[in-house]
Amino acid sequence: MGLRVGVLTSGGDSPGMNAAVRTATLAGIARGHTVLGIRDGFDGLISGNAPELDLQGVDGISRMGGTLLGTARNAVFPTPEGQVLAKKQIAALKLDALVVVGGSGSLAGAHLLGKDKPCRVVGVPASIDNDIGHCGMAIGVDTAVNTIVDACDRISDTARAHRRAFIVEVMGRHCGFLAMRAGLASEADAILFAEHKTSEDELVDRCRTVLRRVFEKGHSRRALIVKAEGVPISAARLRDRLQEHLKVDAPGVDIRETVLGHVVRGGNPSALDRLIAQRLGYAAMLAAEAGAHDVMLSWDPPGGFGQATADRNVRVVPLKDVLEETARYLDGTSPVMAGRVQLLKTVEDMMSL
Ligand code: F6P
Repeated sequence: MGLRVGVLTSGGDSPGMNAAVRTATLAGIARGHTVLGIRDGFDGLISGNAPELDLQGVDGISRMGGTLLGTARNAVFPTPEGQVLAKKQIAALKLDALVVVGGSGSLAGAHLLGKDKPCRVVGVPASIDNDIGHCGMAIGVDTAVNTIVDACDRISDTARAHRRAFIVEVMGRHCGFLAMRAGLASEADAILFAEHKTSEDELVDRCRTVLRRVFEKGHSRRALIVKAEGVPISAARLRDRLQEHLKVDAPGVDIRETVLGHVVRGGNPSALDRLIAQRLGYAAMLAAEAGAHDVMLSWDPPGGFGQATADRNVRVVPLKDVLEETARYLDGTSPVMAGRVQLLKTVEDMMSL
């Protein structure tokens, strides 16, 4: 007999979420299940706003940024009252399974909800930050990196024209992955991310050295510093402090800052994000059908963690393990995070020779 499967997107949207929803829907319908599109994340679960999805409803959505289902950051859901309400609705909607597409906070919510198994709960990692444990690449990361690279290229054009330095701040609350990837691809002279755990003065000193090298040697007419938003100094303050030094180090050179903010999260998903999302969405529906519970479908988890699926890039990882590794990302004890910091240290001196 066909299952009733709810699908929701939660937390910060990320490009590719729609492709995951569409493929999960297609796979569900093809296999005789009923797929319900829960609106606005856990808000819609609590209120029971979950109309059935059909083929027409998901037609053409893979190319769209944001999420057609809507999303929210719900404060009530994790509370005991919120959990009771959500479980009531799961029973009222007669859900056999729930697919949660979202980032680390949403996956923590999925794990919490799954504790008494009101239905099977399956996670799909989607967050531009790439801060989800045991996941090589979350849905949305590739598009966000490309968006930042495009912005840095444009900024570099105008910076070269004026012989200027720029600080570009990018999203990534607790995780500098976007800054690192996009900074390297944009030929940045310095990349600042919070995982470095540097003091403000050390950061300023480092940037000062880099700017001196670029403008004294004159091999470039622009300097580019890519800064993750999690670095505890605002782009404006960093600019002010560096501008003071430039007066002495490179008279006549101006420094400006651009905070990309939510620009980084929007836009049509790249082909790679659509393809990752399709394969994770498909695998999630199959896993739910097979009885999987309290797990996440992961794309290329580092070290091949988790259980294999029919898709060579997709593995099944218990949500508990995902959340524990995510916590290790945050406190810096994960070897994956140490590897990222080490990589940057290795290339740092080459970036502004
Ligand atoms: O989704 C992750 C993220 O984009 C972070 O990089 C950023 O700090 C945060 O969300 C912003 O969230 P909001 O849109 O709720 O302000």
